[in-house]
Amino acid sequence: MEQGSPIRQRLRLPQSSAAPGAISSPSASPALWAPPDPVSPGARAPVNGALNSGVSTPVSASVGTPKNAPAPVGALGPNRFQTPLGLAGRGTPRQLSCRVLQSPLAGVSDRIFRQLVRRWAPEALLFTEMVNATSLELGFGLEKVEELASEAGPIGVQLFDYRPAAMADAARRAEQAGAFLIDINMGCPVKKIARKGGGSGLIRDPALAQRLVAAVAEAVSIPVTVKTRLGWCGESADPVGFALALQEAGAQALTLHGRTRQQGFRGQADWQAIAAVKRALTIPLFANGDVASPEDALRCLAETGADGVMVGRGTMGAPWLVGQIDAALAGRPVPPTPGKRERLALAAEQLQALVARRGDHGLLIARKHMGWTCQGFPGAAQLRQQLMGEPTPAGALKLLERAAQED
Ligand SMILES: Cc1cc2nc3c(=O)[nH]c(=O)nc-3n(C[C@H](O)[C@H](O)[C@H](O)COP(=O)(O)O)c2cc1C
Repeated sequence: MEQGSPIRQRLRLPQSSAAPGAISSPSASPALWAPPDPVSPGARAPVNGALNSGVSTPVSASVGTPKNAPAPVGALGPNRFQTPLGLAGRGTPRQLSCRVLQSPLAGVSDRIFRQLVRRWAPEALLFTEMVNATSLELGFGLEKVEELASEAGPIGVQLFDYRPAAMADAARRAEQAGAFLIDINMGCPVKKIARKGGGSGLIRDPALAQRLVAAVAEAVSIPVTVKTRLGWCGESADPVGFALALQEAGAQALTLHGRTRQQGFRGQADWQAIAAVKRALTIPLFANGDVASPEDALRCLAETGADGVMVGRGTMGAPWLVGQIDAALAGRPVPPTPGKRERLALAAEQLQALVARRGDHGLLIARKHMGWTCQGFPGAAQLRQQLMGEPTPAGALKLLERAAQED
């Protein structure tokens, strides 16, 4: 890669340490979750110091640091969201000072992505991609948990499996690595996982779901939470009953995606159904589904009465979104949405970091992110097309640099 190229000098991008090699595959590797189109940012949404203790200091940004510009939605922030939310745990209590959660996103919410999100949202609870407890037991995927130790701010580890003992063991490892809390995945729709009884499969076996929660809660002193969906399918869905069962088993908070497993990502998230669950629970509830802007978040919270929101697809290519929503809820000025130059700089930074970390495979992962980030400016569609066909990291970086120099 060219040293001291103009975009790097102007935007102070880190130099890549990886040797760029030609990459033959034209598209990103298949994600475990087939990512639907991110809710486009703008429309509806187009889509470390203090170690992972929840007490974080803002991370200084080399690029894309939001400037506090006034935006009207900030004035709408209800006071109740400025009160920290306490989760007792069993010996290690945690406090959430930010009511917006970055959702776990397999194939997306890796450490590099989290560090970008963190720039805008120093206090927010972020999550690892979901981690397979059995794989951890066998020694795979350990880095997804161990890397937490060097990251600032609260980070939850999301685990999935259907075996209570494996989950308990994985939870212990995650706690030792510095997890802020443990979240149990009971919403993943992927057939291979659900068929075995993990992810959304647990919705069909509330007794096993309860045993899992109890086993994990007993294994760790930090809080244990669950992320789930409204049900398996429309006819059988009993979100209130299932949520109460999880609460009874020891879950200290729930995140509820307002769709059933059968719906996948189709239709609209049912915020009214989330409201019914919120009314029934005594533990905090985070509403999830179709929140892709500060305005959506405020509407969702008003409609559901939830204690906070979790955002997923809206953050893909928009790592600033969690911070924007946080500011709106806290009544602070909402940081502006980055324009072309900042987006290109972010894309270049993420590309370089991914290649430095993952080698040539990093380019495949970066293509996804560049496709999401390079949106919303003249020539973006053409640039995306060029980026998807570019076989080397150095070539992709040049394309980004050239685009940044165009008016
Ligand atoms: C690419 C992708 C990966 C996801 N990975 C996970 C995951 O690892 N764990 C999980 O609980 N949910 C996962 N989800 C679901 C999201 O966390 C979220 O519940 C869902 O997208 C609805 O929220 P949204 O409308 O804000 O996107 C994933 C979704 C997508 C699109």
